[in-house]
Amino acid sequence: MKRGFFSHGGFDEGQAGGASPWVSFALLIPYFKRYAMRVLGGLLTLIVVDTCQLIIPRIIKWAVDDLQKGTATPALLARYAGYIIIFAILIGVLRYFWRELLLGFSRLLESHLRDRIFSHTLTLDRSFFQRKTTGEIMALTTNDLSSVQLATGMGLVAFVDACFMGLAAVGFMAYINPTLTLIAIAPMPFLAVFTRILSSRLHNRFKKVQEQFAAMTEFARSTLSSIRLIKAYNQEPRQSERFDAMGRTYVKDNLRLSAIYGTLFPISGLVGNVSMLLVLYFGGRLTIQGVITAGDLVAFISYLFLMTWPMMAIGWVADLFQRGITSLHRIDGLLRERSSLVNSAVGEDLPASFGKGQILIKDLSFYYPSQQTPSVSRIRLGIPAGRFLGIVGRTGSGKTTLCHLLARFYPVEDGTIFFDGIDVNRIPLASLRGAIAYVPQEVILFSDTIAFNITLGRPDASQEEMEAAARAAAIHEEIMAMNDGYQTRIGERGVKLSGGQRQRLAIARALLLDRPVIIIDDGLSAVDMETEHAIIRSIAGYLRGRTCIIVSHRVAPLADAQEIVVMEGGSIVARGSHKDLMDKNAFYATIYRQQTSSVHDTHGADASDQVMNSGTAHAS
Ligand SMILES: Nc1ncnc2c1ncn2[C@@H]1O[C@H](COP(=O)(O)OP(=O)(O)OP(=O)(O)O)[C@@H](O)[C@H]1O
Ligand SMILES: [Mg+2]
Repeated sequence: MKRGFFSHGGFDEGQAGGASPWVSFALLIPYFKRYAMRVLGGLLTLIVVDTCQLIIPRIIKWAVDDLQKGTATPALLARYAGYIIIFAILIGVLRYFWRELLLGFSRLLESHLRDRIFSHTLTLDRSFFQRKTTGEIMALTTNDLSSVQLATGMGLVAFVDACFMGLAAVGFMAYINPTLTLIAIAPMPFLAVFTRILSSRLHNRFKKVQEQFAAMTEFARSTLSSIRLIKAYNQEPRQSERFDAMGRTYVKDNLRLSAIYGTLFPISGLVGNVSMLLVLYFGGRLTIQGVITAGDLVAFISYLFLMTWPMMAIGWVADLFQRGITSLHRIDGLLRERSSLVNSAVGEDLPASFGKGQILIKDLSFYYPSQQTPSVSRIRLGIPAGRFLGIVGRTGSGKTTLCHLLARFYPVEDGTIFFDGIDVNRIPLASLRGAIAYVPQEVILFSDTIAFNITLGRPDASQEEMEAAARAAAIHEEIMAMNDGYQTRIGERGVKLSGGQRQRLAIARALLLDRPVIIIDDGLSAVDMETEHAIIRSIAGYLRGRTCIIVSHRVAPLADAQEIVVMEGGSIVARGSHKDLMDKNAFYATIYRQQTSSVHDTHGADASDQVMNSGTAHAS
């Protein structure tokens, strides 16, 4: 199998890497299309509001001119005031509408993107989750999404507002006096250049802030989820300190970011004030010379005031867009991640024979992502349908890896694993997983009722079916002894189960699935050996005719298996029935004797585990 099978790199440098982050804008186009009417309606309302705002200085100009010419009467002034009030009311009402329409759009977009991120993340494979922490993914759905929302909401509003108001104000000013307008806007290009220079720094610093936020989220999550361990090791103060240190870095990064637009805003303000100064000086002279009226000058200054906001907005919008696009690029990176498994499963029409449970492994080798040595190598193994196969081997010998590959958690090369004669890479993932009941080595239970946990894969199972599975896993009696029986809540806000109880619940869950193949990866390590043996026997009886692959680090419980394989350093070093191996394989026979004699010895279990772990015994 080739190394480098997996795509590496962060969300931001994913397959979208190299190109400008703006390519990620394509992600938003469908939403703009879908809500085109809402967005257009909102923008139109916004422009009407802006127009109303632009008309008010004209009314003031008329009033001032009338006053100057002496044609003003109280009735006329009252009429002007009336107009202004009407426009002000109109502005107020329409502002409500554009906010509703445009900010509502950004919220809808945010919610659609969040759903997309969530459901896409669920499709990704293990190699992805090995590269990415939960904190990083969570930061995408919080901080990053909210910067996209801000950019498409307030950012868009401020952008359109600034462009329209800016251009219209310049238009009105030019109508009053073109030369004065040129003088007034002369300082503006400085602002544009300045914003441009700062924006790339803004981009980088913001990226750092987001990364630090992701790291903090992940730290908080992992601390809370392992709180019991942390308490047991008295690590609370240390974890608090570390969190505190991360928080300080976050603040520092944020301050460095603020420092940038801490200069952006004052500079916008300065440019605005310089313009005002120029207008007062040159415009005042033009008024004295009689080129423009006093009303014109007042209106001109009002327009300049209207322009201050767009000028300030340029910096702000640049920042919002920078943040938005940085975040969007990260989101895009995640959405471009593809499960290497789904791609390879070219949905072929499965023959009716599929689902018998026959497995063939040919020359299978596998490297974990970024690992230099194979974790299993050159495995060849035929497992006829209905066979009970045991796998034993030292810790780290590759048992779990082999199970992971059979359950298709990681991609394998073509021609290495066949189910019922079909290459697994040609079987749709859902069909393949639908044929396997898998009990992982580390049990995962939900904080819910016992019934919910057992029927996870078959929510429609009847009470009888559920109880039968629990009986076969030898957990029924213990469940019935609990106060609420199968309705007992377990986990964070319920009953705590022992390690062995958790394992048997997980086995009951898999048994209930009733699939042609069941794989139990060391699923009974937490019960004593005799109980393990009894349960495996019970399971084998319950599963007669199904292909049963049971991994154990103890040998005796697998004695009933039709075939046992011994793994060592990622390879199969011996195989046969219990009897064959006892005769032929020194390693197996030694382990067996030590483990069985230890049953009568109080310290025995530890001793046998030591042999399995010591690496001194050798297979023949
Ligand atoms: N996700 C992973 N990424 C990289 N290496 C891994 C990963 N999981 C396991 N390995 C490595 O692969 C080898 C085989 O591990 P595996 O978990 O298959 O052993 P095992 O036989 O199941 O051991 P145990 O009896 O302790 O469960 C080990 O060397 C281990 O370090
Ligand atoms: Mg294992």
